[in-house]
Amino acid sequence: METKRFSNQEIEAAAAALRDGQLVAFPTETVYGLGADATNETAVKQVYQAKGRPSDNPLIVHVADVETVTTLTEPLSEAAKKLMAAFWPGSLTMIFKLKPNVLSKAVTGGLDTAAFRFPANKTTLALIKALGRPMVGPSANTSGKPSPTTADHVLHDLSGKIAGVVDDGPTKVGVESTVLDMSTDQPAILRPGAVTPEQIEAVIKQTVATEVHKVGAKETPKAPGMKYKHYAPAAQVYIVNDGDWQSALDWAGQQPVQIGLMATKERLAGLQLPTNVEVFELGQNVTTASHLLFAGLRHFDDEGEIKDILAEGFPASGLGLAYMNRLKKSAGNVFFTTSQI
Ligand code: TXA
Ligand code: MG
Repeated sequence: METKRFSNQEIEAAAAALRDGQLVAFPTETVYGLGADATNETAVKQVYQAKGRPSDNPLIVHVADVETVTTLTEPLSEAAKKLMAAFWPGSLTMIFKLKPNVLSKAVTGGLDTAAFRFPANKTTLALIKALGRPMVGPSANTSGKPSPTTADHVLHDLSGKIAGVVDDGPTKVGVESTVLDMSTDQPAILRPGAVTPEQIEAVIKQTVATEVHKVGAKETPKAPGMKYKHYAPAAQVYIVNDGDWQSALDWAGQQPVQIGLMATKERLAGLQLPTNVEVFELGQNVTTASHLLFAGLRHFDDEGEIKDILAEGFPASGLGLAYMNRLKKSAGNVFFTTSQI
């Protein structure tokens, strides 16, 4: 199959392919998603195949209006309505209890809930409206790899496996949406993202749970995606905290091979780099670092020769919570210390 690159002017053609049961990747402000008509079970099943995604990991349902959500779900709480008003369209995904039999098992993974997201990207809102149905959309990467933040990343992973990708340039945020479970009495963040716990609490005047239970391979986790290896480049990533840069670079300089390094300009300005270190800059701060994190991991994957990457750690607060969540997964939770390598 030849995968077409649609411009953001070719929405009708992309929507026609979706209506026809084909898969089309789409931009959002967070990362690119892999779209299929949520009401077409055969098409939804192909999403799992194209990504190599385990079939018990449910998909986010993307909508372009609130009404589509209310027709599928049990009555929404006041807190849910407030959050929709505050953060939709935007980078907050919310999990609600479904009415019986409204979405196929392929979408929900057999759960009685579904995750809903009203993205902020105008091109994609036009695409969903043109489709006229809700659209499933996991991140448009091969399962286990970093999420795509450009159409080229999508084509790198899925070219030949999907009908097309709508190219709307690089995504703004760079890490995926916050996933908030609203199907329980106390709302719980299952995946940190651009919308922070503090912002959510300020709107609903209620505390949200953020410490999500870690699960073993045989358990059914609350967010099924949590148990799988994620965001992993071919190289080993080592997270470097504030005080550890000098020893990390001393170690790098002693290696007989090229070492990758991902850090902000400010960080780099204070470092003496050995000649065998190849740099991918993460901009100025945690916002730009989140925007560029997946691109950096993919950059070193494409190089092929880099087997070790040193990456800058940030305090896990605000957007740093989402950044560190992704970075820890890509590193298999490995931090640089001289004794570890
Ligand atoms: O920013 C994003 O959220 C992107 C863009 C494309 O919208 N999408 C995305 O989808 O990251 P995905 O499938 O890669 O991640 C969705 C996460 C998974 O960890 C999945 O297990 C969880 O949400 N999830 C989906 N439905 C759920 C449900 N009903 N209950 C609990 N977790 C759910
Ligand atoms: Mg994903």
